[in-house]
Amino acid sequence: MKKGASVFFCQNCGYESAKWAGQCPACRQWNTFAEEPSAPKAKGASSGRKRTGEPKNGPVSLSDVDAGEGKRFSTGMGELDQVLGGGIVPGSLVLVGGDPGIGKSTLLLQVCRNLSRTLSGVLYISGEESLQQIKLRASRIGTFQDTLRLMCETCLADIEEVVLREKPQVVIIDSIQTMYQEEISSAPGSVSQVREATGVLMRLAKEQGITIFIVGHVTKEGTVAGPRVLEHMVDTVLYFEGDRHASYRILRGVKNRFGSTNEIGVFEMQEGGLKEVANPSEYMLNGKPEGASGSVVACTMEGTRPMLLEVQALVCRTNFGLPRRTAAGIDYNRVNLLLAVLEKRLNLPFSNYDAYVNIAGGLKLTEPAMDLALVLAVISSYKDIPVSEKTIVFGEVGLSGEVRAVNMALQRVQEAKKLGFTRVILPKSSLEQVKKVAGIELLGAATVRDAVKSIGS
Ligand code: TYD
Ligand code: MG
Repeated sequence: MKKGASVFFCQNCGYESAKWAGQCPACRQWNTFAEEPSAPKAKGASSGRKRTGEPKNGPVSLSDVDAGEGKRFSTGMGELDQVLGGGIVPGSLVLVGGDPGIGKSTLLLQVCRNLSRTLSGVLYISGEESLQQIKLRASRIGTFQDTLRLMCETCLADIEEVVLREKPQVVIIDSIQTMYQEEISSAPGSVSQVREATGVLMRLAKEQGITIFIVGHVTKEGTVAGPRVLEHMVDTVLYFEGDRHASYRILRGVKNRFGSTNEIGVFEMQEGGLKEVANPSEYMLNGKPEGASGSVVACTMEGTRPMLLEVQALVCRTNFGLPRRTAAGIDYNRVNLLLAVLEKRLNLPFSNYDAYVNIAGGLKLTEPAMDLALVLAVISSYKDIPVSEKTIVFGEVGLSGEVRAVNMALQRVQEAKKLGFTRVILPKSSLEQVKKVAGIELLGAATVRDAVKSIGS
């Protein structure tokens, strides 16, 4: 390629183009192309090692491969181990994404503290904070061993050199957007820099058997800033999410080459760092009003874990022609759809009523199993009758007002029992799966009308 030639990268998905374009042909986003000098092909991650004669790795039989399962080691945090699929796999590359200030650096520093007790070398490399800042954070978290080494560096070549010299077992890179390679002239955080940097780290992890955690910032749209290509390159992608105003944080596995992605970890941000929340349901139901109308406890599944939470609705007569609706934590259109179902199937005049729906605790839910709880919360507020205490509700509502079965009904009922609930309103078709649970009254509802009959009694 000509000297000084440049290419254009979509800053959203990493699509590469020789010419500028208004809309990215790959991800259809507008105005995302930015010019970046093209990366020199000789050094870079994809071109990796220089070829020297015979290839190093010949083919082997599957039976000769050591799965290395037994070699996993714990992070010292049960919730994190669970999301990782049972602990850290040596030589893996883990991306931790999340909004700024959510607690990524805190989580990883805590992991470092735990690991430095058992491992001989842990290296924390920060490109964002000074050593003093890290020290201040560390002093809030607790005491640290000397096997944890810190470094403030953004030049990848230097990092690589230090890692090869010190041979730590775990390395933390905070964050990938601050790292740069000298050969690439575009700014740190640009698509080509982030991609090449990840490539270098990937090679380092695999060749040296070092586990590397990479912190990645998240854009407004909720994807890791810069390229999605990054997600394809790493072994495991974890997202750290939570409400700015609530102190709980959820760590969600989005991709995992060494385990299931159906797991979440729940943490609470406290004065002394992140604490694991062993019983999220109890935590979510904290502060639920007693005997108030418009409040219903629902059960949602977060991966394979049932979680109880409160759905709140406030319905009042509209002052203007057009009813106002708001939905927090749940899809706005879904709320409108369910209100239309109620209007049509139960002859309730919701077109004259404002409706405000909220999931307490700031969780965002997309599960259709929340429908029935939402419907009952709305009706409870409209009629101003509280749903009896100790009742939980789940089920999907269809357009004809039918209540449809949801998966993992038994787990949901068991969670309700664990927390001392005594009645469960659930889809009639799920009854068969649940059969009987001691101490729980099961009320199967075939239609929304059935479900409404069973509240308030
Ligand atoms: P941080 O880990 O710096 O977030 P990220 O690396 O994802 O940008 O999170 C810092 C936030 O957490 C900050 O708002 C302060 C808060 N925090 C606590 O509440 N308690 C603590 O013990 C620590 C270390 C931080
Ligand atoms: Mg940080």
